[in-house]
Amino acid sequence: MQKKQKKKITNNNPIGIFDSGFGGLTVMSEIHKVLPYENLIYFGDTAHVPYGSKSQNVVAKFSKEIASFLIRQKVKLIVIACNTATAFTLPILQKKFKIPIVGVIKPGAKIAILTSKNKKIGVIGTEGTINSNSYIKEIKKLAQIKVYQQACPLFVPIVEEGLINCDFANAIVQKYIRPLLNKKIDTLVLGCTHYPLLKKIIKRNIKKNITIIDSAQAISQEVKNILIQKNLLANNNESNLKFYVSDNPIKFKKIGCRFLGKKIINIKKIDLE
Ligand code: DGL
Repeated sequence: MQKKQKKKITNNNPIGIFDSGFGGLTVMSEIHKVLPYENLIYFGDTAHVPYGSKSQNVVAKFSKEIASFLIRQKVKLIVIACNTATAFTLPILQKKFKIPIVGVIKPGAKIAILTSKNKKIGVIGTEGTINSNSYIKEIKKLAQIKVYQQACPLFVPIVEEGLINCDFANAIVQKYIRPLLNKKIDTLVLGCTHYPLLKKIIKRNIKKNITIIDSAQAISQEVKNILIQKNLLANNNESNLKFYVSDNPIKFKKIGCRFLGKKIINIKKIDLE
């Protein structure tokens, strides 16, 4: 019997992007801005969100299943568009799968290092990301810099409920950010995919000399560089965006457009094994 030939990955194969739910759409939006001709497939694990308060084993199990699904869709590269999943699973997925896999932490850490003048960086994220110390580890690999961290577990529900303009959102931002301001940081890393939606309110509560680093923007450039390096940039003159979720596509459509900055069409619910 003739052996089934594996289809080669070509330039116009899609980029796979995944997150625990909606948050990674901020990453997808930035990738789409920087690489407008790339076909993109997004997977939001809405059946299991949030990842930020779960243990590493559980997040690793979901992440492996999602990466396998994306590989079956013939993606040419995978972006882990979730800080918690990056912190818990990047090396595990890189070891298990052959295609390039990138996460949001290293690119954000690199830009923070280049930005900080006084060598004091603040990082905010979910409990999982902060407890993993992943940002500290990445930053310390490259520079002698003091890193101060703060978990902000209430930020994700505030963003998802669309409460970013309420007085209590302002009070919670102040509570979480104050300890970092006391450390005189000059750079603040938004180490969670939901936090770009709180940028305005965070800016209002920090001094003007503090630069905010958005890991969604940092990763887009990294993805572009890898595709150039591997000669895998798309040669389309338009792009196709597809969305998959593990639960409730209607809610995803409704809330997701706030994160993506445009309407979500072409969405399917699927069950992973
Ligand atoms: N996407 C997650 C992150 O960036 C935040 C939401 C969650 O906890 O699942 O860490």
